[in-house]
Amino acid sequence: MSRQAPRWWQRDDLQYTQGELTLAGHALRPLALAAGGPAYFYNAERVRTKLRGLRDALASTGLRNRVFYAIKANRFTPLISFIRSTGLAGIDACSPQELQFALSCGFEESDISYTATSVSNADLDILARHPGALINCDSLSTIRRLGERCPGRDIGLRINPGMGLGYGDNALLQYSGAQTTKFGIYREHLDEALALATEHGLKVRRIHFHVGIGYLNRQLPHWEKILETCGEFIDAVPDVQSVNIGGGLGLPHVEGDEPLDLNAWAAVIKRQFGPRKLEVCVEPGDYIVKDSGVLVLQTNTVEHKRDTDFIGIDGGFNLAVEPAFYGLPCEPAVCTPRSGATRKVTIAGNINEALDIWARDVMLPPVEEGDYIAFLNAGGYASAMASNHCMRGQFYERLLYPKAP
Ligand SMILES: Cc1ncc(COP(=O)(O)O)c(C=O)c1O
Repeated sequence: MSRQAPRWWQRDDLQYTQGELTLAGHALRPLALAAGGPAYFYNAERVRTKLRGLRDALASTGLRNRVFYAIKANRFTPLISFIRSTGLAGIDACSPQELQFALSCGFEESDISYTATSVSNADLDILARHPGALINCDSLSTIRRLGERCPGRDIGLRINPGMGLGYGDNALLQYSGAQTTKFGIYREHLDEALALATEHGLKVRRIHFHVGIGYLNRQLPHWEKILETCGEFIDAVPDVQSVNIGGGLGLPHVEGDEPLDLNAWAAVIKRQFGPRKLEVCVEPGDYIVKDSGVLVLQTNTVEHKRDTDFIGIDGGFNLAVEPAFYGLPCEPAVCTPRSGATRKVTIAGNINEALDIWARDVMLPPVEEGDYIAFLNAGGYASAMASNHCMRGQFYERLLYPKAP
């Protein structure tokens, strides 16, 4: 086994120790071996650290603030119960099922912010039975139909500032922008939305927006312009008490990605919303859980085909769709690296689809059939979006707590 030079992603809780990749002090290869198939591991303390960092940054704005964890990113029950036990965050839910699941994990209605799209009457009937949940309406239709069911209720409006951003300026990751999207109420419809709310006795207390996912430091100037534009919506709505700036906080995916500086991020919030003295809410998913998790898969095929050295593994894009769908890389790290020169390989999954490639032309130490590879940044939108495509949807999940050294 080789000694590994420090990697760009290495941290105290994710590193090589005596030739073994460890997470929270646990060697991953033996854990994966015991799991007997595709396995996700999450470090609970990493999640707490991220939540604390966010709360501290928000506190530095001097504004009242709340964090709602976007449960869509990862709904593994032990993880959700852990987040509940930290007391550092509520839940952002986007379906009645997510809302009810959060309640079953011990969250109160008032801990739950609810922002959904294409909302059905059946959904609204369920929401009407949860008067304490903080509902943000993202269309005129939802305002009207919610108003018919719950006149007098406090609501939020999800707005669409017509500007967006996302990791690497990837248009697929933007929720608002040049292209018209389904999300939120545009400026030209705001007056109509407010009139509808008044007609149904709804009181608009919150403005909500979520403009894209994965933004990093270099995008903060553009993000500040977006907040400025959203401020114009806020000023057009009397009696707003709270602004929810959505999720989308990113984290590095490849070497050279500059991490988000939370102090700089909080300074933007303070500049834009400080003078308005609003409560600031944020609802990140990825930022809280993504880098806490890895997906460990076993190599089953090592073979040269034409000009390419392929490594075939026992899990496909159905277990972590972001690399295939969005081009968002999951960095591969061999669990127990062998000594020898690194070489360029392409890692492919076990699904019969041309897009089932984990990583193309990446440098890895020598890999043999049977070796384990951990894919980093698999804590968010991986297990939660997994499908049973090709009937290969089985996986194991475990929340790890730090192991004494
Ligand atoms: C309304 C809303 N809020 C929050 C999030 C969480 O985003 P992220 O995990 O990128 O922070 C999403 C993601 O789709 C969303 O649609």
